[in-house]
Amino acid sequence: SHELNTKFIGNKIIHFNTIASTNDYAKEIASSLEEGTVIISEEQTKGKGRLGRQWHSKINEGIWMSIVLKPDIIPYKAPFITLIAGASIVSALNKLGANTLIKWPNDIILNNKKISGILTELSAEIERVNHIVLGIGINVKTMEFSQEISDIATSLYKEDFKMSRVDIVRNIFMEFEELYMDYINNNCKEKTLNICRKYSAIIGKDIYTLKGDSKELVRCLDINEDGNLVVQTKDKIIKEIMSGEVSIRGI
Ligand code: BTN
Repeated sequence: SHELNTKFIGNKIIHFNTIASTNDYAKEIASSLEEGTVIISEEQTKGKGRLGRQWHSKINEGIWMSIVLKPDIIPYKAPFITLIAGASIVSALNKLGANTLIKWPNDIILNNKKISGILTELSAEIERVNHIVLGIGINVKTMEFSQEISDIATSLYKEDFKMSRVDIVRNIFMEFEELYMDYINNNCKEKTLNICRKYSAIIGKDIYTLKGDSKELVRCLDINEDGNLVVQTKDKIIKEIMSGEVSIRGI
């Protein structure tokens, strides 16, 4: 169907041709926006990735958007929303015919390369969340990437999945709203976790966990009920990883 059947996600969409960063703009005006408002731009001149990196966001080549959320939760519960976003992106893209996977917790992978990243920015006080800006970048039509990232990045078109950006956005809104409402209203994480497990790029694989300068090789076992990554060390110790940079061998 070509309708947007959501209750609040994407009810209001603020569209730009060009902007520095949809996340920065959303953060600036978040307090005056209703929950579910989406800032989307055809181009970002200062697109931000995680860990202070740049996010290439050329005109008309992708989906560069931020969803403003105002859940009544304690800050501790916020990181799970990144998993909800990842699960909705993968569901949306795969329903349209792609075969994407989630590289827990922030990246979406297609044919071993990154096509999408999530940048969640939280504004909170000690006991409550003010707002969350959920930034989503998806490489849709990009055919050439700059040299530094050409080995690790790809786009849907480049991998021969020619789908419309409007269809992708609509699907993400619908998938996201369902999983988000389950979590916020009913504390139900089951569907999200099942998608994260089923479409995981790392469960069953050896990965490097990066903490500062130290690398550790571990076997990735599962994503647990809290959304944390469960891994086994070389000494057969089972550990839980909450977040942080995880780099994967071979990806
Ligand atoms: C990453 O993988 O490092 C996260 C990338 C997030 C990019 C999106 S594009 C829309 C939003 N605005 C930004 O400046 N960044 C996010």
